[in-house]
Amino acid sequence: MNNQPKTPGPSRLQLVRAYPRIRRDLTRYLADLATQYGDTVLLPLRYPTYMVRNPADIKHILVANFQNYHKAGGLKVGEELFGQGLVTSECPLHPKQRRIMQPMFHRGTIAKFGELMAVLTNDRACGWTDGALINLSTELMHLTLAIVGQSLFSVHVSQDGPGIGSAFVQCQTEITRIQRGFPLPSFFRIPANRRYQQGLKTVNDYILGLMQTRRTDPNPPDDLLSLLLASRYEDGTTMSDQQIRDEAVTLLMAGHETMTNSLSWALYLLSQHPQVMQKLQQELDTVLAGRLPAMADLPALRYTDMVLAESMRVFPPAWTLARRTLQEDVLPSGLTLPVNSEVLLCQFVCHRNPKYFPDPTRFDPERFDPAIKKEWPQFAYFPFGAGPRYCIGESFAKMEGVIVLATILQQLTLKLKPGQNIIPEPLITLRPKNGIWMKVTRR
Ligand code: HEM
Repeated sequence: MNNQPKTPGPSRLQLVRAYPRIRRDLTRYLADLATQYGDTVLLPLRYPTYMVRNPADIKHILVANFQNYHKAGGLKVGEELFGQGLVTSECPLHPKQRRIMQPMFHRGTIAKFGELMAVLTNDRACGWTDGALINLSTELMHLTLAIVGQSLFSVHVSQDGPGIGSAFVQCQTEITRIQRGFPLPSFFRIPANRRYQQGLKTVNDYILGLMQTRRTDPNPPDDLLSLLLASRYEDGTTMSDQQIRDEAVTLLMAGHETMTNSLSWALYLLSQHPQVMQKLQQELDTVLAGRLPAMADLPALRYTDMVLAESMRVFPPAWTLARRTLQEDVLPSGLTLPVNSEVLLCQFVCHRNPKYFPDPTRFDPERFDPAIKKEWPQFAYFPFGAGPRYCIGESFAKMEGVIVLATILQQLTLKLKPGQNIIPEPLITLRPKNGIWMKVTRR
């Protein structure tokens, strides 16, 4: 059965005509399609691609019938970098790996990282002098990489040798650059591919070096790397070096790219909404009274948490999830997805659905007041995904977001350097296209 003709959406010709707009502003184009056509939109691309917005359909795809869906889309560009790590692997490898790594991410286990997050943030922010202009995205990229490196692998990536931290950032930047253009295979020696290969080699050598050093460490720290090295599958075999490398790179990358974007967007939105900034800083002054935040402060830093949640609604760092159907499937809304079709669960579009988020482009943290939040259905908002593939780092990320924001904003106010046009660029994650420059003011 094939119901494609019944699913509304633009024709191929309309898509071709819209191409300049799609290149300029893909996320808003998709949001407009949902406004025009409704909760399911068919895009006649290489594979029939269905954009789905109905919360019940999203739950079905991510949770109830997840076995019928594999990952699809832009992750392919990063395949060489991520290998068969947790983000890219599929069944039967994925559940085995997830089972081994899950204990490292339990709330109780990550609580101890709170202090480290605050200290690393404080060290970085102390370097931002009064009146200085900072490239916020670059600063946060190095900070969040240091946080995830030290928490999960007990290493200070940026201090471990010339260029290690920069190599991670370089891999990411070059993937971004390659994604922006036409992705030529890596044997084409264009400068972006060459820089990417150089960065990749540095990253690979670094991770392999870490593994060798750890194997001979008489007192190994109790961290994720030790867990991966000591792990045994049910049949008694150990994880291959390649698999450990893939998991390590995946976590270092997934753990800092998304965080950088989440914090960048939050600080950008705050700079545009002084009243929200003022309310947040009042909360910090009351709760922290000048000391660094810790995990135990999280329940009291409620408004800070609401600001981050609302930022991820307006600018979700993971802006879309892409899946491919293994078999035909019928969604709760009645839509039939043919075998081998692609499905876009686009957070950018869903989080701006006026049915659940009135005046959706307005930045309003009060939407996350528990009494109001109760009114939306589950899966109207899903910045961390859902089901067996939901973000393993969700609790880590929520804690890091609040602690970094609180540490910075209790000491500083960041104001947008005038004259910048901040445009969201939807690549693997949603980042500000040309970065964000901020002026630092000490409070
Ligand atoms: C604000 C920050 C973050 C956001 C918005 C975010 C978002 C997401 C989303 C939406 C997924 C699901 C992808 C899918 O279903 O296709 C995901 C998966 C994942 N995230 Fe995050 N993430 C964040 C932070 C982190 C951090 C800090 C880490 C690690 C320390 C991390 C590690 C991962 C991993 C390993 C996966 C793959 C999980 C699996 O498939 O089993 N993320 N993330």
